[in-house]
Amino acid sequence: MNMEEKLSAEKVIVIDFGGQYNQLVARRVRECNVYCEIYSYKTDIEQIKAMHPKGIILTGGPNSCYEENSPTYQKELFELGIPVLGLCYGAQLMMHVLGGKVEKAPVREYGKIQVAVDSHSPLFADVPETTICWMSHNDYISQTAPGFSVCAHTADCPVAAAECAEKKLYAIQFHPEVLHTVEGTKMLYNFVRGVCGCTGAWRMDSFVEESVRQIREKVGSGKVLLALSGGVDSSVAAGLLSKAIGKQLTCVFVDHGLLRKDEGDEVEAVFGPNGDFDLNFIRVNAQERYYAKLAGVTEPETKRKIIGEEFIRVFEEEAKKIGAVDFLAQGTIYPDVVESGLGGESAVIKSHHNVGGLPDYVDFKEIIEPLRDLFKDEVRKAGLELGIPERLVFRQPFPGPGLGIRIIGEVTAKKVRIVQEADAIYREEIAKAGLDRTIGQYFAALTNMRSVGVMGDERTYDYAVALRAVNTVDFMTAESADVPFEVLQVVMSRIINEVRGVNRVFYDLTSKPPGTIEFE
Ligand code: XMP
Repeated sequence: MNMEEKLSAEKVIVIDFGGQYNQLVARRVRECNVYCEIYSYKTDIEQIKAMHPKGIILTGGPNSCYEENSPTYQKELFELGIPVLGLCYGAQLMMHVLGGKVEKAPVREYGKIQVAVDSHSPLFADVPETTICWMSHNDYISQTAPGFSVCAHTADCPVAAAECAEKKLYAIQFHPEVLHTVEGTKMLYNFVRGVCGCTGAWRMDSFVEESVRQIREKVGSGKVLLALSGGVDSSVAAGLLSKAIGKQLTCVFVDHGLLRKDEGDEVEAVFGPNGDFDLNFIRVNAQERYYAKLAGVTEPETKRKIIGEEFIRVFEEEAKKIGAVDFLAQGTIYPDVVESGLGGESAVIKSHHNVGGLPDYVDFKEIIEPLRDLFKDEVRKAGLELGIPERLVFRQPFPGPGLGIRIIGEVTAKKVRIVQEADAIYREEIAKAGLDRTIGQYFAALTNMRSVGVMGDERTYDYAVALRAVNTVDFMTAESADVPFEVLQVVMSRIINEVRGVNRVFYDLTSKPPGTIEFE
C-alpha cells in the first residue's frame, strides 16, 4: 500500500454541527493514530461516500435537533454500512433522524457527572462500570430509535449512550473528547480502533506527507510569500511549505533588533542559504531603523504601534521587490482561530497577531494556512518530523514586538544588549536545571529602575533586571512559577557578574491577573 492508500484507508470523518469541542474530537482521534478530517454538516453525502471513511463522528452543537432549521443530515448517512458515532447534539440527531425522541430535559446536566456504563458495549470495553463524564446538554433522548438499546445512563439521564451494534451506530450524550471525561480517550479509541477497525498507522509523518500533497495541489506553479518570525509556528510553516514547493516559497525574515540573543543568526542558519531548507530566504536587518523610530518613546501602546507599523513597512518594501504573489502563507494554528472566536465551520481568516494588518498591504490572491487544524504540541511534532532543530521547535512563546515590550520605557541599543545577555543566562540556567520544558514561559526583562550598588570598591548606579517565570494553561491567566531559590541565585550572580550595566536582580511573583505576562 502506498502512503496515499494507507491514509485514505484509515480516514475518519468528523461532521461539524457547530459545537465548541470539534477540533478536540479530531485531536483525540489523531491521538489514536488515525487520520481525521473535519467537514461541515452541509457537505454533500456523495462527497463523504467518495472518501471511503472507516468511520464517521457527528459532533455536538448548540441547537435543538427537533426545531425547524436546525442543522441536520439525511438518513442515508446511517445506512452506508459505515460506523457512526454521535456525540451530544450528534447523538440526539441520530436518534431524531432514525425515529427516536429528543425533548427538553427535565433536569439540565452540566459538568462532571457520574455515568453507569454497560461494559459489554464495544464502546465501553475496559471502562469501569461507573465513570465520570463531561455533560453539557439542555435536551435529552427520551426514547431511543428502533433497534437501539441503552448502554449508559446517569441519575437524571436515562439514555447517556445508546447503540445499535448490528449497524455499528453509537450515540453518546456526554463529551468523550473533553479531558474531564476520565475514560473519554479510551471510548474514542474503542470506536475508531475497535468498532471502525482502523489499524492506527497514522503518525505525524503522515500529516506532513498529506499536507505536502495538498499544498502542491493548491499552489500548483504559483508563488508563496511567508513572513518568518523565527517562532515555532512560522518556522514549521516554512519547513512544510519548503518541502512541498521548494523555491516557489519566499520567506521574509525581519530582524527588528528586538530578538533574543543570537536569534536572528539562528533563524538564518536554519532557513538561510547554508541551511537545511530549499527556499528563498530574505533577511532584512532593520535594527537601526527600529531603534531610530523608538528613540525617546516611553508609552507602551505607542511603542507597540511603532513596532507593528514598522514591521508592515519593511515587509511591504520587500514584498514590492518580489512583486505579486499568488499566496500569502501564515503560521496560524488552531488556538489562534479559537482565540478570535472564529472556530468551527464559520471560520474566517484571522491575520496572525505578529503580522497584524499585513493582508491589506501585500498583493496576493489567497491566504494559505497549513497548520490551521493543529494544536501547539502537534505543531512541534510536525516541526521535528520536518527536521527543524529542537532549539527552534521548543522555543519559548515570544511576542511579536519582542524585547520592545520587555524593556520598560525607552528602547535603546544598549538596553537591548543588556536584556539579551541577561535573558540568555536565565534561559541557559533554567535549561541546566531541567526546567525548560516544565515552565510555561520564562524570560528576563529590563526595568527602567536604576539604583545604587557597590561592586569591588566602586559605587555603581545601574539597572535592575526582572526575572519572570509563569505557568499558564491558556495565557489568559497565569501563576508565577516556583523556580528553586538555588537556581535563581545562580542566575542572579551570573547576571551581575557577566552583564555590564546591571547591579540588581528581582524575581517577579505577580500572577495574571492582576499582572500581565509581559511587562508592557
Ligand atoms: P500578556 O502580557 O498579555 O501575554 O499577559 C500573554 C501571552 O501573549 C504573548 N504576547 C504576545 N504575542 N504578540 C504576540 O505574538 C504580541 O503583541 C503579544 N503580547 C503578548 C505573551 O508573550 C504571552 O505568552
